[in-house]
Amino acid sequence: MTSPTPAPQRFAAVDVIRTKRDRGELSADQIDWVVDAYTRGEVAEEQMSALAMAVLLNGMTRAEVSRWTSAMIASGARLDFTDLPRPSVDKHSTGGVGDKTTLPLAPLVAACGAAVPQLSGRGLGHTGGTLDKLEAVPGWRASLSLEEVRRQLVEVGAVICAATGDLAPADKKLYALRDVTGTVEAVPLIASSIMSKKIAEGTSALVLDVKTGSGAFMKDLELSRELARTMVDLGTDAGVRTTAVITDMSTPLGRTAGNALEVRESVEVLAGGGPADLVEVTLVLAREMLASVGLDAVDPADALADGRAMDAWRRMIAAQGGDPDAPLPTARHTHDVVADADGYLDVDAMAVGVAAWRLGAGRSRREEAVQAGAGVELHAVRGDRVRAGQRLLTLHTDTPERFEWALQALEGGLPVTAGAPAVPPLVHERISS
Ligand code: URA
Repeated sequence: MTSPTPAPQRFAAVDVIRTKRDRGELSADQIDWVVDAYTRGEVAEEQMSALAMAVLLNGMTRAEVSRWTSAMIASGARLDFTDLPRPSVDKHSTGGVGDKTTLPLAPLVAACGAAVPQLSGRGLGHTGGTLDKLEAVPGWRASLSLEEVRRQLVEVGAVICAATGDLAPADKKLYALRDVTGTVEAVPLIASSIMSKKIAEGTSALVLDVKTGSGAFMKDLELSRELARTMVDLGTDAGVRTTAVITDMSTPLGRTAGNALEVRESVEVLAGGGPADLVEVTLVLAREMLASVGLDAVDPADALADGRAMDAWRRMIAAQGGDPDAPLPTARHTHDVVADADGYLDVDAMAVGVAAWRLGAGRSRREEAVQAGAGVELHAVRGDRVRAGQRLLTLHTDTPERFEWALQALEGGLPVTAGAPAVPPLVHERISS
């Protein structure tokens, strides 16, 4: 018996690597082949590492990134929500400290008439994950079947749940490789990674919140702009109406960082209160989302004020087994941090993010559990006048041996100075196609 002849390999991985190494443009066929062959294990990890490094050093053209994104989408399933009775619109944030905006935003936009399929992830490192936050709500369940997602979108209008493993599996494999080869920071690879998952989710419109500043993935405004522009182009090329807003992440958003603490603050926003910066970012994004699906006559501020957004939140939580009336978990131990001088306070986002993570709000390995009650609560924010001895922050954790480690993260991150610190704009700019 003769064994079946393997399909001819259309390219040698080393030639694809050499093309990018020598600053050439990869052809559509080369890209389709290398992404598919890597996902199937035919291109070796060391070959994809070399290619990722060549992309980091030499970049990609718009046509290359667009094709790379399509190839990653084609590696898995693609959902379709175009048959829903409401227009669907999704939001993606590149992540930041205290960025709990998804929590009030999804029910708010649903209360205004759109369907919001928000497939989310867990946190790794100093920024929290949306699913970790919602899992602080007693009974709430992150894993839903596709049928349950659809039913909830029809009946409630908003769903926040775990993304299924079969969306862009090529990205899952490549992201893990980039993480250990110093190639996460390549703009074409970040943009195609984010957008392949978002486009595969099947939304008809997408609003991107690209964070900039010390607590963000992109610390520098110029790079944030490049990432935003690349992602807007990718969405547009794929037929998804896409806009981006670049927002500040040099200081934490709102007054909490940590899972249950952030849920509590989100509920304050849904009740018509909450910190002004969080309310502003939520409303800016809600208006963008509604405009992108032709619902711009609706003012989301009204839905916050009259309780419709809160009603949608309660239905969204209950639909996934959560009890919106149950008390949220609290940490067993707290520790106050006080000002050591009179003056104006500044608060660095990265310092607070790392402190919250070290207190147990985040994880350093994917399989680690997070503490629902852990995190940082701010009693004063950037630009506030403070007095020596005044309480600035409260640290929360179940494991008090972590306090010292968290305090080390805050060293230099809470300067009190004689003059008021510069306050960058909360919303830097908007980018559309
Ligand atoms: N988030 C992603 O999903 N991918 C990246 O490459 C970076 C951030």
